[in-house]
Amino acid sequence: MSASAAVTSTYNKDHPFPARITENRLLSRPGSSKETRHFVVSLAGSGLHYKAGDSLGIYPTNRPSEVEAILKALGATGEEPIMLAKATDPMPFREALHARLSLSDPTRKIVEVLHGKATNADERARLGGLLAPESKELLAAFLGEREFIDLLIEFPSARLSPQELVDQLRRLMPRLYSIASSPKVHPTEIHLTVAVVRYETNRRERHGVCTTFLADRVQVGRTEIPVFISHSHFRPPEDHSKDCIMVGPGTGIAPFRAFVQDRYAEKGVGRNWIFFGDQHVATDFLYEEEWREWKDRKQLHRLDLAWSRDQATKIYVQDRMRENAAELWAWIESGAYFYVCGDAKRMAKDVDQMLHSIIADKGGMTLEAAAEYVKQMKKDKRYQRDVY
Ligand SMILES: Cc1cc2nc3c(=O)[nH]c(=O)nc-3n(C[C@H](O)[C@H](O)[C@H](O)COP(=O)(O)OP(=O)(O)OC[C@H]3O[C@@H](n4cnc5c(N)ncnc54)[C@H](O)[C@@H]3O)c2cc1C
Ligand SMILES: NC(=O)c1ccc[n+]([C@@H]2O[C@H](COP(=O)([O-])OP(=O)(O)OC[C@H]3O[C@@H](n4cnc5c(N)ncnc54)[C@H](OP(=O)(O)O)[C@@H]3O)[C@@H](O)[C@H]2O)c1
Repeated sequence: MSASAAVTSTYNKDHPFPARITENRLLSRPGSSKETRHFVVSLAGSGLHYKAGDSLGIYPTNRPSEVEAILKALGATGEEPIMLAKATDPMPFREALHARLSLSDPTRKIVEVLHGKATNADERARLGGLLAPESKELLAAFLGEREFIDLLIEFPSARLSPQELVDQLRRLMPRLYSIASSPKVHPTEIHLTVAVVRYETNRRERHGVCTTFLADRVQVGRTEIPVFISHSHFRPPEDHSKDCIMVGPGTGIAPFRAFVQDRYAEKGVGRNWIFFGDQHVATDFLYEEEWREWKDRKQLHRLDLAWSRDQATKIYVQDRMRENAAELWAWIESGAYFYVCGDAKRMAKDVDQMLHSIIADKGGMTLEAAAEYVKQMKKDKRYQRDVY
């Protein structure tokens, strides 16, 4: 795609491109406790362009069955006109619930509203108990197990009007996904690696809004999905002769598939080293055939794998880093770039700690000196993270 086409694209976050999905394929194998999928999104006709390291923003819609359940609980038809915050024109209630409002993550405020409106004495007492100053933890646990529909069903006497409910709901936000393809290989399409969110709380099945939108509700080649490119600072080295160490367990592998494609297309001489991990080798080895093929043709130079649940003791990517500490340090000392993508809460912190410890140990430094070394790597853009 030419640079001028990119500049003239009119599509962005406020004016998303109506894209179509051309492929929806299961990556995890039967027997996996996870459902990780590969999606291909066509950008044909959009004028949009992207770079390895960018993310795709997607505006999902809610499950129709959940919308209908809310309408039923309120005794509403869905045709009622409602006003969204800051809107100038009304829209039908059903449409707002379907595409504009988040139906999960209720807060204390809705409990207060229900308490104020409940006409049944038992319901009022229960809601009052949750709002008591000493019930903070109880309330947090109660809300953590529930979505708005649960509350409407559990406290039916507090019948809210459509507008009263709308006033309690936050806007449905777009979700971001790390792009798993390089534009140098796939200029008019974007590949995604998506872990589908399904779980149960309060004895009800829960469905991640965007991941089940993509997995279950979007029809391949037919449904239009509003998308935009979210440009990032997360980038492979501009100098293609530099080595790259990429740590991406689970869906964290997505941008590194793009990096390895990108760097191979550039014919640089820099080496690629991937640390990947997931639960089981038999069911969760995402893109296994590609990595093997790329390794055979020296597109990928090292692949270290950590299967967390194939043995009694957990093995994680940072354990593989420790086992290969001397070589890892040799790569870093000779100018390699170090990248991390995936879970922010635990993995990225533990990998960061391991990086510090390897630099201190193999570089013969104090932990303070290692911290300075890492700080400099960050300044030089040689240590980049894309974590969520
Ligand atoms: C820059 C960036 C890149 C990303 N890249 C990727 C990517 O490449 N692939 C990918 O799959 N995701 C990626 N994500 C995450 C993605 O944006 C979504 O957050 C994720 O897919 C969930 O979206 P959802 O709408 O399906 O779920 P939501 O409807 O938003 O639900 C998710 C929420 O459900 C709750 N939840 C989930 N599991 C459980 C459970 N077992 N028990 C109780 N509660 C639970 C949690 O509160 C969680 O926050 C990325 C995020 C960012 C910010
Ligand atoms: N709520 C959370 O805390 C949390 C964290 C991560 C991902 N998620 C969500 O879970 C879904 C699937 O995510 P995903 O496919 O990307 O995989 P993931 O859940 O991040 O797991 C990938 C691999 O990382 C391992 N892992 C767990 N803790 C680790 C740590 N501290 N250091 C290194 N590795 C660690 C996992 O092992 P084990 O699972 O066997 O321990 C697994 O083998 C996504 O929807 C994601 O958003 C939620």
